[in-house]
Amino acid sequence: MKLDEFLAQAWPRYVDLTPDADPIHRMLEARGERVVNDHVAFRTFNLPGISRHDIGRVFEGWGYRAVEDLEFPEKKLLAMYWVHDDAFKPKIFVSELLLERCSAELQAWVRTLAAQARPVRGPADLMERSWAPVRYADYERFYAESEYAAWTAAFGIQVNHFTVLVNELKTFDSLQALNAELIAQGFKLNSAGGVVKGSAAEFLEQSSTMAQKVWVEFVEGTRQIAGCYYEFARRYEVPGTGKLFIGFVPKSADKIFESTSERR
Ligand code: NI
Repeated sequence: MKLDEFLAQAWPRYVDLTPDADPIHRMLEARGERVVNDHVAFRTFNLPGISRHDIGRVFEGWGYRAVEDLEFPEKKLLAMYWVHDDAFKPKIFVSELLLERCSAELQAWVRTLAAQARPVRGPADLMERSWAPVRYADYERFYAESEYAAWTAAFGIQVNHFTVLVNELKTFDSLQALNAELIAQGFKLNSAGGVVKGSAAEFLEQSSTMAQKVWVEFVEGTRQIAGCYYEFARRYEVPGTGKLFIGFVPKSADKIFESTSERR
């Protein structure tokens, strides 16, 4: 499987969990835009076979290289991102929950899920449900400790968000202009820490929709929980390099993670 095929197959699966993504994508195309993906993000746990490195290796097979680790101590997360020499190929951002920093109960819960997961060795392992549906009672119980753990347990390892590269949009000259249009059209954006996270001085501005509730299968039956979100990023040139910043800003990403929160 080629990267483009993988992404083409991942998109409809992601759209099913992100009611805002397709209408926004269609709105941009109707304006004559060609949507370029800045990055695609996955969420997982730091366990053998499904760790950030296991997922990253799939992309290394397509010519990606790992750049650096980013720490999110408050959320007990570690993330790494991969880039491709072809700037039109999306960066890959994989975060993982550091289980040793979580309660023994949460660790035990996640380990029972991971034990069912096929080790990630190739793209096909990222296209199927990672484990059987969890109990909604467990989802609720562990949500209180880690929203990230609950989300990942409910959905398994899969795309958490796609990201529109605002630099490539011709009809919006700023992220703020795009946000204003999205808000005018009734989309709800994540306002944690302000709608725009980051700044030109940090070479990266980001915003995102708030994940809407979608129906998810649980042991007790289907329930509505927060799904995935759509992100928007504008990158700035790093002075003296002639190139756009390729990295991420942890304090901005920290707030973007809250786009799947159900408490807003
Ligand atoms: Ni992102």
